Amino acid sequence: MAKFTYHGHACFTVEIAGKKLLFDPFVTPNPLAQGKVDVNQLEADYILVSHGHEDHVADLVSVAKRTGAPVLCNFEIYLWLNKQGVENVFPMNHGGKWKFDWGYVKMVNAVHSSILPDGTYGGNPGGFVVVTNEGSFYYSGDTAVTMDMQLIPKFAKIDFAVLPIGDVFTMDVEEAILAAQFVQTNRVVGVHYDTFDPIKINKEEARKRFEEAGLTLLLPEIGETIEV
Ligand code: NI
Ligand code: MN
Repeated sequence: MAKFTYHGHACFTVEIAGKKLLFDPFVTPNPLAQGKVDVNQLEADYILVSHGHEDHVADLVSVAKRTGAPVLCNFEIYLWLNKQGVENVFPMNHGGKWKFDWGYVKMVNAVHSSILPDGTYGGNPGGFVVVTNEGSFYYSGDTAVTMDMQLIPKFAKIDFAVLPIGDVFTMDVEEAILAAQFVQTNRVVGVHYDTFDPIKINKEEARKRFEEAGLTLLLPEIGETIEV
């Protein structure tokens, strides 16, 4: 069993195998997170970054410096972090993995784009498969549904997937249902919705669509921790 804490947008912590994995730190500029999440209280043993867009890295440098937690990201974001004095970084690229005593993190494909907030080239966007002896999960990052997702159950049995559902910049609910089927999981935590006007969704409708497909869509409140 893992614990999932939602910090809003696509920022969340998964606690698994005794480690706190923080994904895509973005709290300060998120109006929906104000008063619900204190960025200075976020804890992390590792920080995982899917791509360079501001809505995934806005608080990355400050949280990395404060916690000292190693950052896992693509090679281009690694170079950008180094320039800002964040040196505890594990650079990686698609198909590669970093192994730790608690499990491993593998970077997989995402169909999206990536540029850092200051205009620096952000490399290719990615997703992560996290495998531990307490279970495994997949975070797609910002992406469309892709045929490549069918490879993921060949790497590991996925207990739950964290998928964007907000449409416009990423998958919508229908594509996320297809993505869950491709990765062969029936539990999905939806992220990347409601933060901005174009990605506002009807949560009830979204849950219903997943249910009709025989899947469970979990939509924790900002600041809420759930078992996954
Ligand atoms: Ni993005
Ligand atoms: Mn995004």
